[in-house]
Amino acid sequence: MDMIRMDVPSGLSMPLGEAMFTQRATRRLDPNRAIPEEAIKLLLDAASKAPNGGNAQPARYLVVNDREKIREFGPLYHEAWWAKRRDGYGWKDKRDIPAGSPYRMPALLADEMGNAPMVVLAFSTSGPSKAMSVLPGVQNMLLAVRALGIGSVLTTLHAEVLDRVFTLFDVPADMTFHYCIPFGYPRGNFGPTSRYASADTSHWNTWDNPVPWK
Ligand SMILES: Cc1cc2nc3c(=O)[nH]c(=O)nc-3n(C[C@H](O)[C@H](O)[C@H](O)COP(=O)(O)O)c2cc1C
Repeated sequence: MDMIRMDVPSGLSMPLGEAMFTQRATRRLDPNRAIPEEAIKLLLDAASKAPNGGNAQPARYLVVNDREKIREFGPLYHEAWWAKRRDGYGWKDKRDIPAGSPYRMPALLADEMGNAPMVVLAFSTSGPSKAMSVLPGVQNMLLAVRALGIGSVLTTLHAEVLDRVFTLFDVPADMTFHYCIPFGYPRGNFGPTSRYASADTSHWNTWDNPVPWK
């Protein structure tokens, strides 16, 4: 394996704080604007720098920007998304999703995945337990593309479709699939996120002690 020393890429000059505090799930992606190859390289380079268990670097990424392949993948993603909702909630279609549910936008993404300009599938060389070593790299990708003004969202698939996904993309059988991340320039702006305050999720020295800013 070549270990290449890299300087920080100039394309990633957005302050880290701005990228972290404005990163959010972007599901409305412009189907007509391709992701430039320099951006793809940057996000993969950023992923390669992430922490991982024992520095074993098990993450492997498949970049799909062939529109025909993504169109073929769309129905598989749709099936996987609904299979998860069927397993989790017994839902069969959009009429089953309660009003105000956070699943309404993800359901739209399930309809639109086939139009994404790019999808990255994240794998590892061995076993489901490697998901933890893949996730920091994926978060680096999400932050890197935020700095480039590109939207993305971390998603998963369902076991029901994996064989067909592996066949569609000629993925070797010894790879383990973990995450599916569509990318595209946002249709609309990034908007604010809504999160619990850190004071409500954090403890100080002992569990019964609040943080000083509570
Ligand atoms: C493990 C994981 C799985 C996720 N799966 C999906 C998914 O299947 N579909 C989807 O649209 N978003 C998915 N998301 C994105 C979350 O819905 C999103 O991060 C969360 O709602 C916060 O959104 P916001 O950053 O826009 O506030 C997933 C995120 C994580 C971390």
